[in-house]
Amino acid sequence: MISDQVIWASLPVPAFIIDPEDRIADVNSSGEGFLNASRKSVVGHPVWDQIAVDAPLEEAFTRAREQGTPLFVNDVDVGSGNRAPLQCALQIAPLLGHPGSMIMIVSPRELASRMTRGNTVKSAAQSAIGMAEMLAHEIKNPLAGITGAAQLLSMNIGPQDLELTDLIVAESRRIVKLLEQVEQFGNLSRPEFKPVNIHDVLDRARRSALLGFGADMTIVEDYDPSLPLAYGDPDQLLQVVLNLLKNASEAAGPEGGTIRLHTYFEHSFRLRRSDGSGHSLPLQIEIIDDGPGLPEDIRGDIFDPFVSGKENGTGLGLALVSKIVSDHDGWITAESVPGRTVFRLSLRRAPREAGQDKE
Ligand SMILES: Nc1ncnc2c1ncn2[C@@H]1O[C@H](COP(=O)(O)OP(=O)(O)O)[C@@H](O)[C@H]1O
Ligand SMILES: [Mg+2]
Repeated sequence: MISDQVIWASLPVPAFIIDPEDRIADVNSSGEGFLNASRKSVVGHPVWDQIAVDAPLEEAFTRAREQGTPLFVNDVDVGSGNRAPLQCALQIAPLLGHPGSMIMIVSPRELASRMTRGNTVKSAAQSAIGMAEMLAHEIKNPLAGITGAAQLLSMNIGPQDLELTDLIVAESRRIVKLLEQVEQFGNLSRPEFKPVNIHDVLDRARRSALLGFGADMTIVEDYDPSLPLAYGDPDQLLQVVLNLLKNASEAAGPEGGTIRLHTYFEHSFRLRRSDGSGHSLPLQIEIIDDGPGLPEDIRGDIFDPFVSGKENGTGLGLALVSKIVSDHDGWITAESVPGRTVFRLSLRRAPREAGQDKE
């Protein structure tokens, strides 16, 4: 049996115990490194003097303490007196058997679990996509001309040259398909928010996948039947799920594989922006596949446009997912090891009464 002390000291992430008076009761060695200060010099001091979080946490923190529930805060800048702020996720939970005490783990943002924050992701994506949209528009007309000319030519030539005109036509089609995907971005309107039964969306996506690109896959449903309605645009959410299913099917290859659609409710999951605004994202939808996993070299960038691990990929599928999720004020993360890749989508729930769009 390994002692708690050893585990505490070995934890590779900064961890703090906060006493009922908001003082640091203990800190592990990663935490000392994070603060750049020794345990002795910080224990007993008010925690929020040592750790600066640029988001108003107090209310949520107090509630978590009073209700004995965990609190997850994503995407906040966390600093200490001695270092530049670092973008982190905070995981806070009541310390079992010590009423009023909390344990807090500070994890610097992982690469693959990219938050689809309004600004940075969008603007980087947007400039690349804006450019591509313009090009798409410009290229489509001449391309139609080229295809038409090749088809005309093919009427009057021998079979050995036919192969060449067929090639022109096929390759042009491929370009048109790419251009159409690029144009999808431009055509994407603001979501029309309404209460959505997410299981209906998943069912539609599952059925259409099984009829087409996912015909070789087994898609298992693992739903929480009591899940409340989500708040979003059903067609856009369908697009998100389809893109994720398509990637999972493509990753599996011709032998097929299994995709699990998992839904659950996690009421403590909150999105908090660094400007202090925030809301809860309690509906969780996971799309889990047993394929080979995200390619090592691109796993940090998969949500960026034009990043693809496939020979014929466009790298636009997840960029579109990311844009839609961000327009929904939602959150998407990816976690992947060979044999298990999880895309988790977190959405807000429908307001209980129309017009009551808070929380
Ligand atoms: N479920 C998955 N399993 C393994 N790799 C994935 C999965 N989903 C996405 N990827 C990787 O992320 C890349 C980007 O995906 P995407 O944006 O949809 O573009 P595309 O599918 O056109 O390549 C894919 O090329 C693939 O390498
Ligand atoms: Mg794709």
